[in-house]
Amino acid sequence: MKRILMIIALLSPLCGRAAKSEVPDIMPAPGKIEMTKGSFNMKGTIVNCDPAISHDAFRAIRQFADRLTLVSGKLTEVASPVGLVKVVQKGNLKGVYFIQDESVAPEGYKISIGPRATVIRASDYNGFFYSLQTLRQMLPVAIYGTRPEPSAKWRIPCCEIEDAPRFGYRGILLDCCRHFWSVGQVKKIIDVMSLYKLNRLHWHLTEDQGWRVEIDKYPRLTEVGAFRNGTMIKREWGSNDGIRHGGYYTKDQIRDIVAYARARGITVIPEVDMPGHMVAALASYPQFGCAGSAPYEVLTYWGVSKQVLNVGKEETMQFLEDVCSEVADLFPGEYFNIGGDECPRDEWKTDPDCQAKIKELGLVSDENASAEARLQNYVTARMQKFLATKGKKIIGWDEILEGELAKGATVMSWRGTKGGIKAASMGYDVIMSPNTYCYLDYAQSPDLESEPYGITTDPKRALTLTKVYHYEPYDEMPPEAVHHVLGVQGNLWTEFIATPEHLEYMLLPRMMALSEIQWCKPENKNYERFLGSLEKHELPILELLGYNYRKPDELR
Ligand code: ACM
Repeated sequence: MKRILMIIALLSPLCGRAAKSEVPDIMPAPGKIEMTKGSFNMKGTIVNCDPAISHDAFRAIRQFADRLTLVSGKLTEVASPVGLVKVVQKGNLKGVYFIQDESVAPEGYKISIGPRATVIRASDYNGFFYSLQTLRQMLPVAIYGTRPEPSAKWRIPCCEIEDAPRFGYRGILLDCCRHFWSVGQVKKIIDVMSLYKLNRLHWHLTEDQGWRVEIDKYPRLTEVGAFRNGTMIKREWGSNDGIRHGGYYTKDQIRDIVAYARARGITVIPEVDMPGHMVAALASYPQFGCAGSAPYEVLTYWGVSKQVLNVGKEETMQFLEDVCSEVADLFPGEYFNIGGDECPRDEWKTDPDCQAKIKELGLVSDENASAEARLQNYVTARMQKFLATKGKKIIGWDEILEGELAKGATVMSWRGTKGGIKAASMGYDVIMSPNTYCYLDYAQSPDLESEPYGITTDPKRALTLTKVYHYEPYDEMPPEAVHHVLGVQGNLWTEFIATPEHLEYMLLPRMMALSEIQWCKPENKNYERFLGSLEKHELPILELLGYNYRKPDELR
């Protein structure tokens, strides 16, 4: 008897774990998941698609079925029979059914898995796409690869899932200017974003250190502005590795990336950062600079440059409109990011064109803002109006709030959370991207010596996985303003990140922590469950797909 009790005692933690492991590791955690008895065999099943679902959703489902055929070693057929909805209403189903259902929330989905049939409902492309991502997460990790594993258990547990995102904007910023990333690498980032249901790629395309987008009307932007003659070494100002660095994306490459992202549920939002952060453009077209500012050189070092656009000149504003016009034509999404951050206004104080413009517009300094800050407001408002003619709404960094900002602009809060709180309280939509929680270039441990050389010099500013995970975007927001929070974004700036391995190391797995902030209601977040899921399921997926990542301290 004693022995039996001892065996039970020894086994009980295992039993507990086994019972728990029946809940599949789905990340970000779904809104509702209720486990029922049994499992459904996906191997060799027939997938039935409601003819009412979109062509694109049908294609995504077919790709899923083709992969399942390959890895399970048994054909997964896809059919689209007329009258499918009636068949589903009648019951007695067998196989997998995808049904168009307008009552399901945007980007949401419902999955009902029984021993004989699985029924999936969604109302839009992303809803169907995310239902497939969830199914993948319930299958063996081999579903992410291409190697046949016919002996794996291609069954999913019976359950009822109801899921939809907390926020509509779930972003990552990728800085392709401080270091240039190939089309293949950008796609690899898009791939991993799509696994975790992120839906916005904020593409930082212009900077002091490099211009990355082909513009027909201004070819020197890429002939000259896309390359720098070296890169500073660590923080040794004045040093230079002497290695020419650069590159740019052709319009065809951009269209390709936009379509690739779209198929994965991701809208790409371009950023043309103005009127500061424009030295690469000035090196290409010095005539748009301020008096006494030249010569210009694409910067080889980091930091904020005092060399900014001469926005007092009409030719400069025309340049901005021409560039934004060509860029807007490449990106079908509703938003366009005009930057607006870190624009020192020193040059405008002495430039005759800028001063004349200030006079012409009647701009004055007062306790709220300087005349020069109001000159930047004029640039923002003019670009907002211009981009509206292209069907775009603007997003800008929180500096655009200084002085006056027209209604309809969206503010991206980066200098902590206060800009976002203020903007939301004033009635602007906001995207929370505070450097205190969302800057993925910051070190992942206060033990800076153990981390790759990077932007963080103060251990107190390290952004550990747990710190990112516990960010709550409504904190300190007045309740009546929270509906203005469109979402949350992680920013991957790349001053000190020069290789794909380092880029992925900084992104992963903090991006997964971010995905739970973006997707899950706060009551569905749980750091222990998150870590368990990382260890058991997500990190093996990253391994299989060939991503570099930082192993969390808690799992070492
Ligand atoms: C920023 O980090 N300068 C937006």
